[in-house]
Amino acid sequence: MAQTSAAAERGQGGGLQAVRSGAGSDMRDTDIRSQYKAVRSATSALAASISAEDQMVQSCPEASPMKWHQAHTTWFFETFVLRPFVKDYKPFREEFRWLFNSYYNSLGEEIPEKSLRSAFSRPSLDEVLAFRTYIDRAMDRFLSSGIDEEATRRTVLGLNHEQQHQELALTDIKHAFFSNPLPPSYKAAPFSDDMELPVSKLGWHRFIGGLIEIGHPLQAADPLDFCFDNETPRHKVYLEPFQITNREVTCREYLEFMADEGYTRPEFWLSEGWDSVKQAGWQAPLYWRRDAGDKTGWRVFTLRGWHGLSALLDTPVCHISFFEADAFARWKGCRLPTEAEWESVASQTPPRGNLLDTGGLHPAAARGGGVEQLFGDCWEWTASAYTGYPGYKALPGALGEYNGKFMSGQMILRGGSCVTPPGHIRATYRNFFPPATRWQFTGIRLAS
Ligand SMILES: [Fe+2]
Repeated sequence: MAQTSAAAERGQGGGLQAVRSGAGSDMRDTDIRSQYKAVRSATSALAASISAEDQMVQSCPEASPMKWHQAHTTWFFETFVLRPFVKDYKPFREEFRWLFNSYYNSLGEEIPEKSLRSAFSRPSLDEVLAFRTYIDRAMDRFLSSGIDEEATRRTVLGLNHEQQHQELALTDIKHAFFSNPLPPSYKAAPFSDDMELPVSKLGWHRFIGGLIEIGHPLQAADPLDFCFDNETPRHKVYLEPFQITNREVTCREYLEFMADEGYTRPEFWLSEGWDSVKQAGWQAPLYWRRDAGDKTGWRVFTLRGWHGLSALLDTPVCHISFFEADAFARWKGCRLPTEAEWESVASQTPPRGNLLDTGGLHPAAARGGGVEQLFGDCWEWTASAYTGYPGYKALPGALGEYNGKFMSGQMILRGGSCVTPPGHIRATYRNFFPPATRWQFTGIRLAS
């Protein structure tokens, strides 16, 4: 479970809006100040509609309370930017240095148990919000002062880190509301899917493969050219000819797997996956519950409350583990794509889709053409284990713990989800979670 917890802290998501390369330092300061304000405001907006009590809930081991997300993202700027770079900086409260640390052991102080975060009734939400304001003012003064390259890199990393936590906060509040006997909705709005166009028929796109390059071509001289360290170095990969499906697997298709006794036939399952099915009693995706009142026999919990599955049959199946994605693919006589195959296809497409800015907060049906849903909707499990690329080097110092130390026992996911902030995802972005993880917005694309 430690790996699940660590992955959850680190979060997921990608880069900010592209900032022009080679900008002068004045332009750089203006860009980074405005981006800082935009990202911090976006976090506040996500938390604004839920109460102080809602912000205390931690309903599963992977999750953290919204109040903690608000404090921890602020801690990141204080710890990695203000304390080391601002002369005579006075911390908001000295104890926050260890209280809101997530997993950075190199900082040398004891880190509170993750499971205790819902016990943090002190500091109050008001004090956490005052902490945010204090850091925002200090950061604004600092960012106006002509900061150096390393401080710029850390600030940009802090903004990307905060966007990861925006996605996590929504993922966590979904589980919190699902666990509440009153099942509140995060957003009270019906789905208004455009039913006039039919859902795209499941089909295949062929690729010839060959020698390709994957990974982010980072311009090391530009501190605003951001990617996470695990996306580098760019390197060559040889691909055999392959094909992938034009869209993600729908709830309707997943229901066929369930109706064919997919959860009770061991021939489709990896050994560890079969153990998970038996131990956890999996019979359906995480947020599905039996409901005789819906003609499918199921209802689904969303950030917009409960809905009969019949209204969501053409939307991508979501909140499934790697093991379920892999078993479905075997049942279909296919497999999951490797991350190199996925990236070779996705790098030909702009990173747009059903992301957080659509306001849908749920995967939407594919109703277009070509290879759809590469970005947004659901993170797509790949057949690739999370390891370092050839020549990978973690960042120096405590920030080297951000990604590199999790390179065991986890699988790669690609493409972002319906709660990934826009501008925060790209073709080279590598998310990773342990294979039994289900609380994320995770789905399936097939390959063969
Ligand atoms: Fe974090």
